[in-house]
Amino acid sequence: MSETNQSRIAELFIDGKKILLPLIEGTEGDKAIDIRGLLRNTGYTVFDTGYKNSASCSSTITYLDGDKGVLFYRGYAIEDLAERCLFIEVAYLLLHNKLPNREELESFRTLLEQFALIHEDMIHFFDRFPPNAPPMSILSVMVNSLHNYYPEMSADPLENIDQTASRLISKIRTIAAFSYKKSIGHPLIYPRNDLSYCGNFLNMMFNTPVRPYIVLPEVVAALNKLLILHADHEQNCSTSAVRLVGSAGGNLYSSISAGINALWGPLHGGANEAVIQMLEAIHKDNNDYKKYIAKAKDKNDPFRLSGFGHRIYRTFDPRGKIIKDACDGILTVLNVKDPLLEIARNLEEIVLNDEFFVSRNLYPNIDFYSGIIYRALGIPTNMFTVMFALGRLPGWIAQWKEMREDPQTKIYRPRQIYTGSPPRQFVPLGERH
Ligand code: CMC
Repeated sequence: MSETNQSRIAELFIDGKKILLPLIEGTEGDKAIDIRGLLRNTGYTVFDTGYKNSASCSSTITYLDGDKGVLFYRGYAIEDLAERCLFIEVAYLLLHNKLPNREELESFRTLLEQFALIHEDMIHFFDRFPPNAPPMSILSVMVNSLHNYYPEMSADPLENIDQTASRLISKIRTIAAFSYKKSIGHPLIYPRNDLSYCGNFLNMMFNTPVRPYIVLPEVVAALNKLLILHADHEQNCSTSAVRLVGSAGGNLYSSISAGINALWGPLHGGANEAVIQMLEAIHKDNNDYKKYIAKAKDKNDPFRLSGFGHRIYRTFDPRGKIIKDACDGILTVLNVKDPLLEIARNLEEIVLNDEFFVSRNLYPNIDFYSGIIYRALGIPTNMFTVMFALGRLPGWIAQWKEMREDPQTKIYRPRQIYTGSPPRQFVPLGERH
């Protein structure tokens, strides 16, 4: 393949025929070959399992450089946003491609307050889930059900995106906290408009009629940071699920519900829960790191070191770095001594010095340390991935919006290479062996 400077065209020779393919370049230098006409012109498709090397869309929302370990939302460095913004400011930024001024932020905040309740009938849903139902399954069901209670949000969600987004962002927080309260058999605590987005969530989770919860600013700040770090990450598995369902014309709720289900998987957002289970297992095994390292290297063992590795990052995940730094601070403020933190640090040290992991560029990712902070905040392990979903929601909505507004969007429908049986003669039931 060669590239001509003038026309930015790649030449591809197939079966002796020369095919010209346009080259595309993103604003930060991402390079791609536009193969959209390839099948029609040659009869060839491309084979790329897991879409490791396929750009499914162009996007203006998030940029990440996996070699340098940098991440930007709408052109702003994640470090600046995590340090200096409110989560709701970042949500606004993702949706509007601009940081809100004071007025815009206030009106967004007012909408979030206005929509914080969920329809009382929906509360009965919680009574019908079995006591140990995973919170992620409850979350996806409840978000999908919002369509039935607020159909006007589906009619034209793009018409007033602030209303649509703030309704979802506000209600998902209430749903998440209610599901936790139901799971432990405690009375529901309703949202309070005098609290911030994060403070409100913490109060709904931990306040009880017998023991008032004191919303500590340090705890609010830690949660705020975590949600910002999770807010978007370009075309990851759950975001692609959201876009995929939306590309068929699916409504916003069903698309987000699909994203929640995709996020639940242990290779994706479910990794934060899996990390804690892994660290606990190492702890119970008298810190036998060697055993787990050996399991992770064993090709015949499906075990992987949760919280290590990433499809795009070939170096430290910048979000992981910020979380690791925040860990010490929040554990000190809360006076929490978590033995898992030391195990995590030791494991990281071992991995970063082990040829198997070094040669595969396996570094700690966002999920490696986030669980330790969530534990310190009192959030139960089975809610960790729900926390990830709360953070990722503005990104999913922004990506869904972008997909819907992009005239180039087509229904997501990958090809396949069929490797099954050639056509064969049908055998009636009585004649089959
Ligand atoms: N432990 C042990 N080996 C690993 C790990 C790991 N965590 N991750 C990758 N590898 C090995 C893998 O076995 C393969 O080795 P080989 O080349 O010898 O076959 C090589 O590294 C490349 O792995 P891959 O599966 O081809 O890479 P991928 O890009 O398809 O997968 C990943 C990325 C994140 C799914 C994977 O690294 C993984 O399973 N990590 C553990 C789960 C995890 O922490 N997920 C959270 C990701 S970050 C947040 C998010 O997206 O939600």
